[in-house]
Amino acid sequence: MENQKTWDFDGWAANYDTVVARGSGVHMCYEEVLEHVAEVARIRPGKLVLDIGTGTGNLAIKCLLRGARVVGLDPSPKMLAVAREKLGDDPRVEFLVVADPFLHIPFPDGRFDAVVSTYSFHHVTPLEKPRAVREMVRVLKRGGVWALGDLVFWDEQAEREALRRLDWLEEEYFSKIVELRRMFAELGMELEAKQFTPVTWVLWAVKPA
Ligand SMILES: C[S@@+](CC[C@H](N)C(=O)[O-])C[C@H]1O[C@@H](n2cnc3c(N)ncnc32)[C@H](O)[C@@H]1O
Repeated sequence: MENQKTWDFDGWAANYDTVVARGSGVHMCYEEVLEHVAEVARIRPGKLVLDIGTGTGNLAIKCLLRGARVVGLDPSPKMLAVAREKLGDDPRVEFLVVADPFLHIPFPDGRFDAVVSTYSFHHVTPLEKPRAVREMVRVLKRGGVWALGDLVFWDEQAEREALRRLDWLEEEYFSKIVELRRMFAELGMELEAKQFTPVTWVLWAVKPA
């Protein structure tokens, strides 16, 4: 049985945007990471995007600015309250509270042009990650793009070294690229990866047409 970690996102909601704006520690290159996710996910006018763990809506806003429509899912009502406050009643975006939005996506197969997520997938346990990958790919259209920006390591050794070296890094459920690559290969998808900081990568893969 995995040791379940807990986080207080409702408590963090009010000052989340102030913290990420500092761009330090795990949030180094925050804006660049979000931009790159939107870029590799090919967010364009008319696209329908699912943003999982949308939080205060910062990636959703980047997708809206590129002309897309967005559905944002998050388990934290208070994070979503901040997102709604920022976006007002923009009809191109919908935010839904979902308890486990990587594992139970309340949409039919093949609905979205892109499934994106930033700084949230490290809350999914290693045992749940293969199921979460299948669930995200399920709701993607053929030819659609999955894109992730997160705290990620190449493999377990890289993670151990970072945890030893970086005093601001706390242990969480960080993905390993070598493992994700296998999960996507099983679905006929090739994982691509670009590193932004010692702990942050953008990963993406296209669903076969
Ligand atoms: C660090 S914030 C990231 C928010 C936003 N995506 C961003 O890039 O700024 C993490 C978000 O993931 C949400 N979250 C926590 N556990 C989750 C889970 N198991 N599945 C999906 N989202 C989760 C939190 O409520 C929070 O809004």
